Amino acid sequence: MRYPEINVAYLNENYLKLQAGYLFPEVARRVREFCEAHPEGARRLIRCGIGDVTEPLPPAAIEAMKRAVDELGHRESFRGYGPEQGYEFLRSTIAQRDYRDRNIQIADDEIFISDGSKNDCGYVLDILGSQNKVAVPDPVYPVYVDTNVMAGLTGPARKDGSYEGIYYLPCTAENNFVPDPPKEHVDLVYLCFPNNPTGAVASRAQLARWVDYAQEHDALLLFDAAYEAYISDPEIPHSIFDIPGALTCAIELRSFSKNGGFTGVRCGFTVMPKSVLRWSTKSNSVAYPVQRGAEALYSAEGRQQVSELIDHYMGNAKVLRDAAADAGLEAFGGVNAPYIWVKTPDGVTSWQLFDRMLRELNVVITPGAGFGAQGEGYFRISAFNSRENAEEVARRLKSLRSS
Ligand code: MLT
Repeated sequence: MRYPEINVAYLNENYLKLQAGYLFPEVARRVREFCEAHPEGARRLIRCGIGDVTEPLPPAAIEAMKRAVDELGHRESFRGYGPEQGYEFLRSTIAQRDYRDRNIQIADDEIFISDGSKNDCGYVLDILGSQNKVAVPDPVYPVYVDTNVMAGLTGPARKDGSYEGIYYLPCTAENNFVPDPPKEHVDLVYLCFPNNPTGAVASRAQLARWVDYAQEHDALLLFDAAYEAYISDPEIPHSIFDIPGALTCAIELRSFSKNGGFTGVRCGFTVMPKSVLRWSTKSNSVAYPVQRGAEALYSAEGRQQVSELIDHYMGNAKVLRDAAADAGLEAFGGVNAPYIWVKTPDGVTSWQLFDRMLRELNVVITPGAGFGAQGEGYFRISAFNSRENAEEVARRLKSLRSS
């Protein structure tokens, strides 16, 4: 099909299979409509929808970025294009601090710096064949699915929003939101722990079952560890590479968005062991000052400041999880992850509850159905907020019980 109306070039028709749009734009559209119609409600509005950080950047990162910008202002220290895979100083700091210091043998040149793991989720499909059978958790971070739809690895959408050709791994309260490997063969498996949206974490034994499966089926695990900094339980692995054998069957995605508060700054990285694949990114990596800012998160002050940020958001998670329980709701997650996954009361659908919370409590949450069919009957509260807002949401949640 050619581009409609102006009839130039051919379209990637896979895009036409995409459903109502990426979940968060749909949430934003409903919130915008509500705010236009109800200015009073708009003034009271508290957003616990998209998991976007609210607190200022760690001062160590700010100082490092300022110094780097100054360097660019002098001929002697000016830099043009950086290395495509990222500057050596950042790649080696990551490999050392996040992996080798934890006895995981990752080499500096197995780290690929990017402007966030969302993009890498899409780019990684460029190097994988279109005949791969793909498995995703359900509920799922929509980017894993949508990038596969756009790359043509799926059939059309079904009525419930799922896609033909994708193997869905149900994550339910019965399996503590951690799926077991399927009985059948798949080639590529997306896993995310700590999980977005359920806040669940996987034990070493559960991850080892996935590594065994991958080895047995010659499958590739795409492990999203964007929230690893939120793990407080010392028994829970921070990386898939903590599991013996994973170096030959896994790729790991990490991000500075949720630990260093870089959602707007943009910086993440992918760990691609040489035994799995080689990769050269499509882009020229990330701005020099941003990479210096990311490096500074590993300094002694940076680490301390990141840990204070995590404590702040996890303090909110406790307030919100307790409030949901006090309101008589069944709540999961929020202990090793900044998301609370809550059962909707009285069989209300998740979009109905979204609309009701928007209208009556003036609180934005994310409806579980937007994350997949198994998300129906749940909603997600994000703990990324000021403490004041988290406490106010906790107060407002009380009235959900009485209404
Ligand atoms: C979310 O709310 O699920 C995340 O903020 C989305 C993202 O990290 O892209």
